[in-house]
Amino acid sequence: MPAHYHRIAITLHWLIAVLLLGQYLFGWYLGDVPRNTPERGFFINLHKSTGLLIGLLILLRIVWRLTHTPPPLPAATPHWQRRAANLSHGMLYACMLLMPLSGYLASNFSKHGVKLFNMVRLAPWGSDDKVIYAFFNQTHKLTALVLVAFVLLHILAVLKHQLIDRDNLISRMWPRATRPPF
Ligand code: HEM
Ligand code: HEM
Repeated sequence: MPAHYHRIAITLHWLIAVLLLGQYLFGWYLGDVPRNTPERGFFINLHKSTGLLIGLLILLRIVWRLTHTPPPLPAATPHWQRRAANLSHGMLYACMLLMPLSGYLASNFSKHGVKLFNMVRLAPWGSDDKVIYAFFNQTHKLTALVLVAFVLLHILAVLKHQLIDRDNLISRMWPRATRPPF
């Protein structure tokens, strides 16, 4: 077994990390756009559209992950660290999935629906229900915070491996110029 992730897993990991960073900045910027203005409608629909595309990439990543075994951790990895890695990676995947899903579900319980890139209107399939909308909207906001917490933990774990254990864990997820064709 190789000691690093497949190049497709590495590409999806870093591409999605960068896109998520942009989508977060976009989401927080929305808070500054005045409500009930055409400008807000424009930016919200753009955020929804980019969010749905990122959601498709996340789905692709999850399908890839379910059908491809990751490289095994070094044999000396303590049991608690294996469990912590599995749990936190599971939470990262769950939050990554819930972000676009909750946004999409909320949109379908509001009269606005989604206007893809402000061009193609996807009519909502749910009723215009303020309570259901608020539930999914709150889920979207709460999950955003939980995901940030787990990404910070994730980065701390990588730093611990680099600076304390000095086992160069990051090379498992780092893009490289040449790799064997498996
Ligand atoms: C990976 C995907 C996504 C990420 C990371 C993301 C992130 C965010 C963030 C950080 C906010 C600001 C939350 C806050 O103010 O506390 C936000 C707001 C929002 N997002 Fe997303 N989003 C994503 C996808 C979507 C999708 C697919 C939709 C709908 C189809 C959507 C609809 C909205 C709406 C309507 C708001 C404004 C909520 C409000 O101010 O009440 N998002 N998003
Ligand atoms: C939005 C940001 C990020 C998300 C959502 C994310 C998510 C993930 C997930 C889900 C895995 C598990 C892969 C699997 O086995 O299926 C993973 C692995 C990994 N990530 Fe991230 N990541 C992010 C940012 C980062 C950053 C900034 C770094 C570097 C500091 C990093 C370094 C790594 C490394 C080294 C691994 C492999 C761990 C191992 O060998 O078991 N990630 N990431």
